[in-house]
Amino acid sequence: MSENNFRKIAPESLQPDEFKFSKSNIEKANSIRSSYPSNYPESSIMPILMIAQNQNNGWIPKKAIEYVANFLKVPEIKVLEIATFYTMYNLSPIGEYHIEICTTTPCMLRGSDNILKQCEKKLGIRVGEKSKDSKFSLNRVECLGACVNAPVVKINENYYEDLNDVSFNVLIDKFKLGK
Ligand code: FES
Repeated sequence: MSENNFRKIAPESLQPDEFKFSKSNIEKANSIRSSYPSNYPESSIMPILMIAQNQNNGWIPKKAIEYVANFLKVPEIKVLEIATFYTMYNLSPIGEYHIEICTTTPCMLRGSDNILKQCEKKLGIRVGEKSKDSKFSLNRVECLGACVNAPVVKINENYYEDLNDVSFNVLIDKFKLGK
């Protein structure tokens, strides 16, 4: 299994010179910030980091970590710790369709390892990689919280559940065709 490259901070050549929230995201972030205790600004790092990731095509550059830390007036290391700990945050560019395959026990018992192998073969990429045309990227993740319908795959913001080799194959073909 290759490493998960999305957890590695992107090289300087891919880092933007600056990052700041769009006007609508400032409003969204302010509203989130105000719903958490003001004496614990760290408590809203996670949802605010997600806004940054969504604004930046699904990955968090170094400037966004700096920006979120300034926005919340917390030490940068606190934001970096969270961004590097959870697989839901990507620190390098992902593909147009980011596939996250759950391989925790319930999904594993229902065939997720085969789905993962099938995905790697079909797209010609391994876990942590992005296809040459940047259309797909693949990650292997822990429980996605939908075990009742294992095996589960998340592609961008959507969940695909109760999959098997055939239905997963059909699903990827549809993405390939842009359907
Ligand atoms: Fe896969 Fe929970 S184990 S969704």
